[in-house]
Amino acid sequence: MGLAESREKEIVEYAGSKNALIDEKAVKLLAIREDFQEIIDLLLSEGTFIIDQKAVEEKALRTKIAEMAKPEVVVEHKAFKPHAKEIEPNFRLLKQYDVTGQSKTEGKVKDFEHYFQRKFEMLSGILKKRHTLSAKPIQRLRAVPKGSKIDVIGMVFRKWVTKNGHVAMQIEDMEAKCIALILKDDIALTEAVEHIMPDDVIAVRAVKWNEGMLIVKEIIRPDLPVREPKRGERNVAIASISDIHMGSKLFLEKPFQNFLQWINGKTGSMKENEKVSRIKYLIVSGDNIDGVGIYPNQFNELNIKDVHKQYEEVSKLIMQIPEYIEVFICPGQHDAVRWADPQPAIPKEFLPELSKTKNVHLIGSPSWISIEGMLAMVYHGAALHDLISSVSFLSSEKPEEAMIEALKRRDLMAAFGMKQPYVPEREDFLVIREEPDLVYIGDMHHNAYGSYRGTTVINSGTWQSRTNYQVKLGHVPTPCVVPVLNLKTGKINENRFMQEQ
Ligand SMILES: [Fe+2]
Repeated sequence: MGLAESREKEIVEYAGSKNALIDEKAVKLLAIREDFQEIIDLLLSEGTFIIDQKAVEEKALRTKIAEMAKPEVVVEHKAFKPHAKEIEPNFRLLKQYDVTGQSKTEGKVKDFEHYFQRKFEMLSGILKKRHTLSAKPIQRLRAVPKGSKIDVIGMVFRKWVTKNGHVAMQIEDMEAKCIALILKDDIALTEAVEHIMPDDVIAVRAVKWNEGMLIVKEIIRPDLPVREPKRGERNVAIASISDIHMGSKLFLEKPFQNFLQWINGKTGSMKENEKVSRIKYLIVSGDNIDGVGIYPNQFNELNIKDVHKQYEEVSKLIMQIPEYIEVFICPGQHDAVRWADPQPAIPKEFLPELSKTKNVHLIGSPSWISIEGMLAMVYHGAALHDLISSVSFLSSEKPEEAMIEALKRRDLMAAFGMKQPYVPEREDFLVIREEPDLVYIGDMHHNAYGSYRGTTVINSGTWQSRTNYQVKLGHVPTPCVVPVLNLKTGKINENRFMQEQ
């Protein structure tokens, strides 16, 4: 038997020993991977028992993006002296971008008007700053001759396909509106307009057709400028977790305990401890508890049926994070704050002990933190569901791509009036006003990483196993995986705790 055949036999036997079914193509793919056992274990832990080519490809692709590292458990008797304990933290909360304590809306029509005006002002400001546009107010369309070139900036009111198969958008600025038409023969533009949603603010380079209509030649989005990824000067790291869902029967307590052991340097492995030793910051991206009454029949899926008790338990876990690590906790739609974005920080009354703890910071969603000179935006992620359901090529298993779409729009608000509600605050906390170096999201229960024009996007996964709702949707979570981003090297290292259960 050749080497390849013996490896394939080993894979089939290994899958068999775990009661998994594996097809021939998947075996061939796995045969070239040193980490085939880890990939099989990971798929099984996520509830995939029929291992086919697609499942392996998806998993193998993901592991290429981030280095996979299984925490080694080797008992050595050396004291853990974390490097991060020896250095002062270097961070600043950008409170002006956090709605906590700044919610001033009354939810009246005038608030909505003001909100959309602010949004238009800010996004058109970004467009003008970033692009060499000679944008004219839409009402000037009347004054220019038919067939002449004109650039305008507008908010998309609606988008539709005309009887003749062209794509039309009604766009508006503060004074006037017009129809911007994308001709069906313009394949590239027809593809580009697929990305555009109602309430987006865009610029168009166009040609006047008549007093109320433009033929679009180019669509320009606010977008990020092309930048090199920023690196920190110090060799320190940010770990991130999300979606603990304390109180759910599906909360994975044992793996979380393993994570706590690990972050306290108790695995006993020098190699692991060197990595852990660099962790100076921990970002927790929302859904800290499962809540009560969040969806119909949730009560039966809870083992802690009281919100205060859920927070008490999650607090006990967070208190076990070493005190030299700065912990930033934002809420999600399961937390005890308003469902609508932007969400203020979890009130101190729910987390009396944590809120008095010096290294723990309760922040809103979204929030901005300057960490080691790098700008991090933290957001739970609710709006991404609407974005994913509206834009055909996005998927909930690739939340980083939805986040990148939000970066191109420079707005976390998907169109108003979809599933995710928004509060019309006096200030728009959802426009992505700065250019973030790091974006932390959660909500999708799926670890994912991406980079776009110098911005690194990290989705921090979950500690809840697969819910019935996710089974119905066919969504496969990636529980108990903790990414650690080294700020000096920019490398992301995944640490998995599920197999230790
Ligand atoms: Fe969640």
